Amino acid sequence: MTEMSQPLPPLPSLLAAMPALPAARRAEFARRYGEQEGVLHQRLSGLYGQQPGFAQWYAGLLAQVGRLAAARPAELQAQDAQRLARPDWFQHQSMLGYCAYADRFGGTLSGVAGRIPHLRELGVRYLHLLPFLRPRAGENDGGFAVASFDDVDPRLGGNADLDALTAQLRAAGISLCSDFILNHVADDHPWAKGARHGDAALRGYFHVFPDRSAPDRYEQTLGQVFPQVAPGNFSHVEEMGGWVWTTFYPYQWDLNYANPAVFAEMAAALLRLANRGIEVFRLDSTAFLWKREGTNCMNQPEAHALLQALRAIVAIAAPGVLLKAEAIVPMRELPAYFGDAAAPECHIAYHSSLMAAGWGALAEQEASLLRAVLARTPGLPPHTSWLSYVRCHDDIGWNVLRAEAGEEGGPEHARARLAAIANFYSGTAGTYADGALPGGAAFQSSDPTAAHGSNGMAASLAGLPAPGPGQLPAQEYVRQKDARQEAALRRVLLLHGLALSAGALPVLYMGDELAQRNDDSYRARPEHAMDSRWLQRPVFDEHAFAQRHDPSTPAGVAYGGLRALLAARTRLDALAAGAPRSVLASAPAVLALARGPRFLALFNFSGTAQQHTLPQPGVHAAPPGIPGEWRDSLTGQARSGVVELAPWAMLWLEAAP
Ligand code: GLC
Repeated sequence: MTEMSQPLPPLPSLLAAMPALPAARRAEFARRYGEQEGVLHQRLSGLYGQQPGFAQWYAGLLAQVGRLAAARPAELQAQDAQRLARPDWFQHQSMLGYCAYADRFGGTLSGVAGRIPHLRELGVRYLHLLPFLRPRAGENDGGFAVASFDDVDPRLGGNADLDALTAQLRAAGISLCSDFILNHVADDHPWAKGARHGDAALRGYFHVFPDRSAPDRYEQTLGQVFPQVAPGNFSHVEEMGGWVWTTFYPYQWDLNYANPAVFAEMAAALLRLANRGIEVFRLDSTAFLWKREGTNCMNQPEAHALLQALRAIVAIAAPGVLLKAEAIVPMRELPAYFGDAAAPECHIAYHSSLMAAGWGALAEQEASLLRAVLARTPGLPPHTSWLSYVRCHDDIGWNVLRAEAGEEGGPEHARARLAAIANFYSGTAGTYADGALPGGAAFQSSDPTAAHGSNGMAASLAGLPAPGPGQLPAQEYVRQKDARQEAALRRVLLLHGLALSAGALPVLYMGDELAQRNDDSYRARPEHAMDSRWLQRPVFDEHAFAQRHDPSTPAGVAYGGLRALLAARTRLDALAAGAPRSVLASAPAVLALARGPRFLALFNFSGTAQQHTLPQPGVHAAPPGIPGEWRDSLTGQARSGVVELAPWAMLWLEAAP
């Protein structure tokens, strides 16, 4: 059947969307709606169907989607068509992400545009700029307390600068990813302000309780995200005459998705941003969207229904756009964020278990946590990808690994094991790692066996020494420093090698490519001093950047090593996100990660040399009887038999042609 002859679904709700669309786009819109209708209508009627006026609300939602589809610029429509023709574009082994705070990376949005040559030199094709919309006045959780979804933070520029940046990035082949903070808004967002001033409709956008009885019941099963700096999940707000649900900081008010108006507002906000050229949305704190008494109010089925409905709306109005789940949850909860072929959800999800297990393996000097994580990592639906990373702006959360850490020894063992890893990175344990726990070591006093997150830049956590001589005599310092520096940089590259070969979209964290160290300056800033995540939010180091091609500097070693890995990765089909992955037997300290029969990565997580006996490569592909040989993907050197891995070294091996 040709498109022209396709009948329009006779739904009145679809007709509501039509007037906004030019005649030439109606058939395509109707076709996309027809594809999505099953999921969209079913999920939304499941969530809101019992509410009076649902049919009218649904028609209103579609009218809004129609208007926003109509407003989509032609250039973005063309890009949608390209993406639809190649829905696996982001799974290619040349895809590389980079994550930065706009102000710390470029000062302003136009300053970020000035960094495009650096991104291109690295081969970046996906830039995640941490929140850049207008945040709350005062403390704002690094922009995660949003006061307007429609305005750029004036300190970073205006909306015209955002439009210019998306256009410049697009021209450079780089997709802009923005946070979409959909779990909460700032307490000075117009919705919160209206609610404070007595607007009953806006009060209904939030979870408000007149007294402590419901909050106390919920608290019995809720966790706490910031137990020291923002204890509890509810904040008393005088003008609201009660308690407001605030999972994160008291100034971040959770939205009430049981109210359909909230869903409609947020869907529209997302599409308006998509129409500005944002190509990927990092759906912040997705796990928390739905509340249910008696649970931890995370990963609820309704949260998935909401995300599936949002995905359907994106597929109708901006189908080239990707959704990325920021759900920092145990592996068993993660696959649901991809949905399935019948009801897709997010295209990408952070693999935080893999990230944390890499650091865990370094601390334990053996790779069993990683092996356990990889064994539990399921295959994914088509056209989806994990996101791999070494560090990000948040702490490393160890508790996602409880199941893996307790595989032998049970839950108590797991708690002690993860607490020991957290302690390793606390900066106070006499290890090489220079890090911190959120809120400092006293944070743990209420539960000495619980493992809270760890903070620090990758290079510092990996032990890169500070430039100054400290207490040691200068000569001795230089000797020790060189050895420590070399080991630290190997560890930094080891973890990057894992992120780049694991079968995911890897995202570098700003500064890690230059081995930037911790930034202590936050301690002097009253608005940041209590949140040690600022340790890993430094300003881009121009000096290190200038040294990036000088192999006698830490920046040069990190940058050169990373670029060599990236160049190899780009030519290796076996490293595409969806290509097969398996773990081969090896020494306890070694992870032997095979990607199909013709690629093998070996990682030594310990400080002692290790051996690994290479299998014959390409056993399925090589002609029978001809022994194959491996080739080092970075140096081209032939390898076979037993290979030796220096402390913290890695080898990438491909089957020789
Ligand atoms: C996400 C962000 C984190 C923020 C939180 C609340 O977890 O990554 O930085 O504090 O959401 O918005």
